[in-house]
Amino acid sequence: MSGSASASQDPHHDPSVDGLLGGVRDAALPVHPRAGDTINHAWLIGAALALTACSQKPQPPAPSVPAAVVAAPAVPAAPACTGDTELVPGVPGSPGHYIPSDINPNGHSELAHRMRLMLAELTALKPAVEAGRAPRIAAGHERIRCSWPTDARDRDAAFDELAVAYLAAVAAYHEAPAVDTFNGIVQGCLDCHAHTCGGPMVAIRPLRIGDAPADAQPGIFD
Ligand code: HEC
Repeated sequence: MSGSASASQDPHHDPSVDGLLGGVRDAALPVHPRAGDTINHAWLIGAALALTACSQKPQPPAPSVPAAVVAAPAVPAAPACTGDTELVPGVPGSPGHYIPSDINPNGHSELAHRMRLMLAELTALKPAVEAGRAPRIAAGHERIRCSWPTDARDRDAAFDELAVAYLAAVAAYHEAPAVDTFNGIVQGCLDCHAHTCGGPMVAIRPLRIGDAPADAQPGIFD
């Protein structure tokens, strides 16, 4: 795989970041009951097709084969991502390659970048969930298990366990989108932060639907 010139075949390219951004963009649109499914799936399929298209030279259609029997191009599977996945040096957000940031002059790690996207996404989705709608969470959150943190020691077994619990909360929300399952996601954020890095908790707590903690500081990570 290494040495590939194509972004979509390049293991260093992480389409899930694009997915998150797409999700945030979708989230800003009006969301209708259950319509988020269609919007996000359509977007994901579109993105997958676009990626596939970029990875291949355009081929003229073979006139002798009817279009209906031409197999759809295979969509490359997302690379594995667990707590054991070896992180790839040089990707955006890895040490020495921090992602430029308005807030932090040193830039962001890959993990911090994802965290900010997750915060922005859930902030954008909260009003829809409050209104009884069922917006989908964009793909990409599962990549927290294999993203470069600022401090490599943060990515330990306890972190991975908390990440798995968080992702289970996201899955539970998708199974039954509702205020309590949305709040379960927020709790998943808080449980990990109580363990790893407490600072952002003041920005995470206001995501919870139905309470306004006294120490909440919404917007400090915007
Ligand atoms: C499994 C652990 C874990 C979960 C789950 C988790 N976080 Fe984090 N979060 C971290 C760690 C570790 C950092 C520090 C990242 C770094 O500095 O590289 C962090 C950093 C952050 C930051 C600060 C980013 C910055 O610019 O420094 C914010 C904001 C944040 N998380 C929000 C959230 C939100 C919102 C959720 C849930 C949707 C969440 N986190 C879920 C572990 C977690």
